[in-house]
Order: sequence, then structure tokens, then C-alpha cells
Amino acid sequence: MQATRRRVLDALADGPVTGPELADSLDVSRAAVWKHVEALREAGFTIVSDDAGYVLDGVPEFGAEAVEFGLDAPFDVEYHDSIDSTNRRARELAQDGAGDVVVLADEQTGGKGRLDRAWSSPSGGIWLSLVLEPEVPAAHVPAFTLATAVAVTRAAREAGVDARIKWPNDVVVDDDENKLAGILTETQGEADRVSWVVVGVGINANVDVSALPAERGVTSIREQVGDVDRRVFTQRVLEALDELQGDLPGAVDEWTEYASTLGKRVRVETPGGTVEGEAVDVEFPGALVIETGDERVSVTAGDCEHLRPV
Ligand code: BTN
Repeated sequence: MQATRRRVLDALADGPVTGPELADSLDVSRAAVWKHVEALREAGFTIVSDDAGYVLDGVPEFGAEAVEFGLDAPFDVEYHDSIDSTNRRARELAQDGAGDVVVLADEQTGGKGRLDRAWSSPSGGIWLSLVLEPEVPAAHVPAFTLATAVAVTRAAREAGVDARIKWPNDVVVDDDENKLAGILTETQGEADRVSWVVVGVGINANVDVSALPAERGVTSIREQVGDVDRRVFTQRVLEALDELQGDLPGAVDEWTEYASTLGKRVRVETPGGTVEGEAVDVEFPGALVIETGDERVSVTAGDCEHLRPV
């Protein structure tokens, strides 16, 4: 949101405030104040006015201005009712040099998951991609995925959902480990310093489970606890992520508190072959440590399956 418009909105939230008072305090013309008020109304804010002045009386349910309003993190939001993939758009913005931008959508028509899978993204979910320009080596990028899983888990728990994390990036619920959210991290740069990181987050929020693919166990916030305020949920995720990116080793530690994988027998299909054993730890920046019986193996990427105990 443009800076003056943000200040108008903040003043209206603390209102009532008259047009001339606003014009004076922001050092703009009364006509400019009126334009900002009208633009905010068009964006869905309810602004009432009487003799005492203007006052904010309602915030739109979802969208760029809605999420930016009251957001305690330094991100701009670009919103789409419908887009092919927020990760695709975020990569485009990153290539153009943008940073600290969130691409947010109500629906995706070509959502992408890990391992080039399709990611079903009906209207009502929270589909977002955050463009970051962190000063980190490429080897640390997996920690952003884990930090994001922590951010989503915190927000889900705050909403009353008993969420846990399956290595590396699935936020799951129940003993069946039905998937509530997934994360797709993409990056570009040199080994010693990345140019950008795009963290894509798909949260099955206010969607019917019947609208999601049936072949894998899935769930939604609607199914677990009823519909959430997507604006607030998105803000909580972004604020947590902003905090956690400042302490990635701490984020990985917090990840282990929510882990559903640790202590389980697992089979991980890695690019170098299958590793089977007990998952005993996760090490910065995100490697799963597996005790195979013969040795301890650190796995940095792959598809992880939880097995029944032997
Ligand atoms: C996974 O396979 O678990 C990762 C799914 C990531 C989906 C999100 S939805 C928002 C962003 N845009 C995409 O196209 N994918 C990610």
C-alpha cells in the first residue's frame, strides 16, 4: 500500500478525524485525502463519516490492503483473486529485483507442489509466496522451508488446530497425518550468497476436503475447527516468518518441538537411493538424521514415508 494511504488508514483507525485535520497532519491537500478515502472504500474498507469526521468501521475480509493493514512485518502484498501460481509470479518479481513482497491468491489454477506435482488450490485457501533476499549461502536455504513450517504450525495452533510437522515441509494433523499445508521453496544465486528465495505456502484453509485431491490424506482448517479469518491467519504466518528468518538455527530447534517424524521409523527416497531407519534428529539447516542400525545417515532431500514400528 502506498505510504500516504497507509497513514490515512492508520489515522482513520484512530479516528474520528476530519478531512482538514487529516490534510494538515499528513501535509497533503483535502482533495488528496478524499481520494485516499475513496480508494480505501473501493478496496473494501468501511469508512463512516459524520460531524466528528471519518472513522474506520470495517476491514475487508481478504486481499492486499486487508493483510497489510495492521501487519507487523515489512512486507508488501500483491493480491490476485485467481492466478496460475503465486510461486511463478513471485519468481518473476524476484528476477525483476523485488524483495519483501508477498504474492497472495484466493485461488490458483496451476498451483505447483514439490517434485513437480500439481497442487490443488480452490477458492477459500491461503495460497501465498514470499520473495526474500536474505544474505545467506545457498546451503542454508532449506532452513527457510523449516522456518515456514514452524510459522504455519504456530498460526494453526493459535487457530485451535493440533498441527505437527512431517519432515521436511508437510504440516499435518491427526495420527493419520492428513496434510493441512505444504511448502515449496525455490531459490537462485551463487553457492556463497543467494540472489533470492521464494517461499511458497499452500494452506487448506476455508475449503471443503471434497475439493482437494483424494489420493493422499488431506484436511483443511474448515474440517478441523471451522472457517478462520484468513486475513489474521495470513498475518500471523508472515509475522512469524519474519521473526524466524532472523534466527534460522532457532527456527530449526523449534521445528523439532512440533515434529511428527522424530522417533518414527522412516523410509526416505533420496536422489542417491533409499534410506530406512529411525529418524532421530534434525540438524541445521534441515537435514534429517536417520539411524539405520549400521550407521547414522544425514538426509537433506527426498520423499519421507512414516513406517509402522517393527
Ligand atoms: C508440497 O508439495 O507440499 C508443496 C506445496 C506448495 C504449494 C504452494 S501454494 C502457493 C505456492 N504457489 C504454488 O504454485 N505452490 C506454492
